[in-house]
Amino acid sequence: MTAKSKIAKKNPKKVAGIIGLGIYLPKKVLTNSDLEKMVDTSDEWIRTRTGISERRIADEKEVTSDLAANAARMALRDAKLEVEDVELIIVATISPDVPFPATSCIVQAKLGAKNAACFDINAACSGFIHELTIAQQFVESGMYKNVLVIGVELLSRFIDWKDRSTCVLFGDGAGAAVVAPVTTGGIIASYLGADGTKSGLLICPAGGSLHPASHKTVTEGLHFLKMQGNDVFKNAVRVMTGATAKVLQKAGLTTKDIDCVIPHQANIRIIEAIVERVGIPSEKVFVNVDRYGNMSAASAIVALYEAVKEGRVKKGDKVLLVAFGSGLVWGSCVIEW
Ligand code: ACO
Repeated sequence: MTAKSKIAKKNPKKVAGIIGLGIYLPKKVLTNSDLEKMVDTSDEWIRTRTGISERRIADEKEVTSDLAANAARMALRDAKLEVEDVELIIVATISPDVPFPATSCIVQAKLGAKNAACFDINAACSGFIHELTIAQQFVESGMYKNVLVIGVELLSRFIDWKDRSTCVLFGDGAGAAVVAPVTTGGIIASYLGADGTKSGLLICPAGGSLHPASHKTVTEGLHFLKMQGNDVFKNAVRVMTGATAKVLQKAGLTTKDIDCVIPHQANIRIIEAIVERVGIPSEKVFVNVDRYGNMSAASAIVALYEAVKEGRVKKGDKVLLVAFGSGLVWGSCVIEW
């Protein structure tokens, strides 16, 4: 037996999975009828065009890292871990506390997770699938045992509350998962993609090196999220349909093998279009966009948490997550629970 095969025998391949989940949703609920008093819109328009009835809005004293730390504490309790056990914290967000330092470092301080390395990723609504895939590499290579991944957004601070085409769509929230080696189940396959030529479709134009903050950028509202909704819609359907097929192929599975699908929760019409194209029965698809709107990086993880709590995802089930967002970026993964 060679030295390499002796090491391989002593260290059989690790499989990464999720061992704990947590969420935090701000208490304040903003309903469609509240929005009717703020902009020229109607409950009927919002529900029929998006499927959204209400969304959560953070308290003015709360910042992104507070939402993240609250979800993380719940995930650590669920995983039965102490904060000292966390070796890496990854935060996925497009609405950080500040441009720098990383929100993950601020979360580390709030948790007291002094043994953890930290970094943030910007993969918009696909943030959870991206960070889960990154965590999987660290865990399966043996570099880290317990990785805390957090998807968090406080988009209400990046939205122009006078722009009816965007302000009705988004909400605030956070979800966290602990990724660690598992002996049963785990992440079966994942797939990530991007098309930077479409970066202008969904963008926060100012506050970076392109348009540093100035009186002009503030007057013109360039620090707010801007979206070409129609183009984003078409791309969302196309790339999430493709990403679903790709990850099933990588996993060696078909739609019949999947017990629960968790698509990004941006718009019920996008979800329906994907479900129809992929050919998955709608009863297998988890939807909570009606209650929270689009929480970007927090959407998939909050939906996964709720699907598990409601018994829609049980031990041994195969769950498929698929998401898409600003970048454009997209990702999909299949997990055996
Ligand atoms: N209330 C009433 N009317 C409205 C509203 C509103 N809130 N918003 C837009 N309208 C009007 C428009 O002005 C337009 O009127 P007009 O015909 O007189 O010009 C009409 O409604 C139709 O507008 P469209 O933009 O064509 O409406 P559409 O059916 O495309 O729906 C929507 C818009 C909901 C934004 C849709 O395009 C969408 O969901 N896009 C995708 C968003 C998404 O998936 N984002 C995911 C990524 S998010 C991330 O990465 C952070």
